[in-house]
Amino acid sequence: MESVYAAAIHDSLLDAASASSKENLTNMKIFIDTADINEIRDANDMGLLDGVTTNPSLVAKTGKPFTEVLEEICEVVKGPVSAEVVSTDAVGMLAEARELAKVADNIVIKIPLITEGLKATRTLTDEGIKTNVTLCFSPTQAWLAAKAGATYVSPFVGRLDDVSTEGMALISQILTIYGNYDFETQVLVASVRHPVHVLEAAMMGAHVATIPFKVIAQLAKHPLTDIGLERFLADWQKVPKD
Ligand code: E4P
Repeated sequence: MESVYAAAIHDSLLDAASASSKENLTNMKIFIDTADINEIRDANDMGLLDGVTTNPSLVAKTGKPFTEVLEEICEVVKGPVSAEVVSTDAVGMLAEARELAKVADNIVIKIPLITEGLKATRTLTDEGIKTNVTLCFSPTQAWLAAKAGATYVSPFVGRLDDVSTEGMALISQILTIYGNYDFETQVLVASVRHPVHVLEAAMMGAHVATIPFKVIAQLAKHPLTDIGLERFLADWQKVPKD
């Protein structure tokens, strides 16, 4: 059970973040974190999908060439689709980014949060190409991504939780910093592992959550809904038919 002390810290993080991040918010967008076209189609059919994030590990699972995967996804989803570069120097990143950006108008270039990545982000932003700066694990990294003009920054909450660090505290810190200085970079909560990550992201006022298909399904599920529906349907059988 959560201690009173932990609960108080938690509440103050939520308050601080939501107080400082109300600018520029319409709602929290839902991206799906997968390269699996069947999952993307299913989520899109729900009518709730705003975009897609992929990464090299997710693309590898499909067993298909990267461009083919992106073309398939962009046929289904018209919102932002993140495609990650694999070069580790700015020149290589820019060459990859310019090729990926030709695949479709809604491609967003995903760039690792390293010095070379920040350089590439600044150049792409100046060229009008959207970026998602990924592998963010600290608030000062996120601050630099915003200064480089990133469209999105992706803090990985689940991977921080994995090393005994509260991932959602990072989201709160970033939202506070961005709110202090009116940065336009959107906070894209990544490495989401369960519905509580999504709940806290929305309570803090994050701009986007990228969510695995399994967790999107969990968000809609409640045992009392299932029990209630079963009871209504059973009782309906007792109603005399016209
Ligand atoms: C973000 O865009 C990444 O693709 C992703 O959220 C990483 O999640 P993981 O830590 O579950 O691999």
